[in-house]
Amino acid sequence: MLRTKNAIESEWMQKQADPESFREYEKERFMIRQCDDRDFETIYSIINNASQAYKGIIPGDRWKEPYMSKEELRHEIDDGVIFWGYEEDGEMIGVMGIQEVQDITLIRHAYVRTTRRNQGIGGKLLAFLREQTTRPILLGTWADAIWAIRFYEKHGFRLVSREEKDRLLKKYWSIPERQIETSVVLTDQKWFDIRHD
Ligand SMILES: CC(C)(COP(=O)(O)OP(=O)(O)OC[C@H]1O[C@@H](n2cnc3c(N)ncnc32)[C@H](O)[C@@H]1OP(=O)(O)O)[C@@H](O)C(=O)NCCC(=O)NCCS
Repeated sequence: MLRTKNAIESEWMQKQADPESFREYEKERFMIRQCDDRDFETIYSIINNASQAYKGIIPGDRWKEPYMSKEELRHEIDDGVIFWGYEEDGEMIGVMGIQEVQDITLIRHAYVRTTRRNQGIGGKLLAFLREQTTRPILLGTWADAIWAIRFYEKHGFRLVSREEKDRLLKKYWSIPERQIETSVVLTDQKWFDIRHD
């Protein structure tokens, strides 16, 4: 569902005019909730819709269709990735996963439906997930996904050095060597403060 510019503007005006009742209105229409097994097909569909952004951008040998198979998604969930979904009027539009690994938290698989990008949904999911943990947060993405790196930087995450990235991806992720070569890692301030070795 594509929201029109008018709808967005009218919401903005409503928010300025009466912030209190706007908060109530927002609570009814928008919701972030933990996904369960019934959401599997929806998560699968959102990931493979949003990941079209990578097509022609990430190295050709890393692209496939579907980008993530059902088996891979099932494996990620079985491996401890907990997905949270952003819903609007009962329809899930974006998902983001969180995974506790050893002494840190990973944010995994951040995807917002293509038609709903750049409307603040990813930002809301990220802010919400950050509140779910007190551990340092690490996240990885493709080095070529400039928009994703900028998105995380805007939210205060910082890129680590190439050497640190290789070390972290080997320590906390289970991904092939080629993906390590073509990825970057960003961490929050807590990670930089603690400086794990
Ligand atoms: C990366 C991704 C999850 C971010 O989600 P999103 O909902 O698009 O993110 P947001 O809207 O919160 O922020 C993205 C941009 O929109 C801008 N924005 C936020 N609210 C806005 C609004 N109401 N109107 C216009 N722009 C807005 C933000 O300032 C930001 O801009 P910037 O990157 O130039 O700083 C999403 O774009 C996506 O699924 N991309 C494809 C897959 C991907 O790259 N995933 C990352 C895997 S690690």
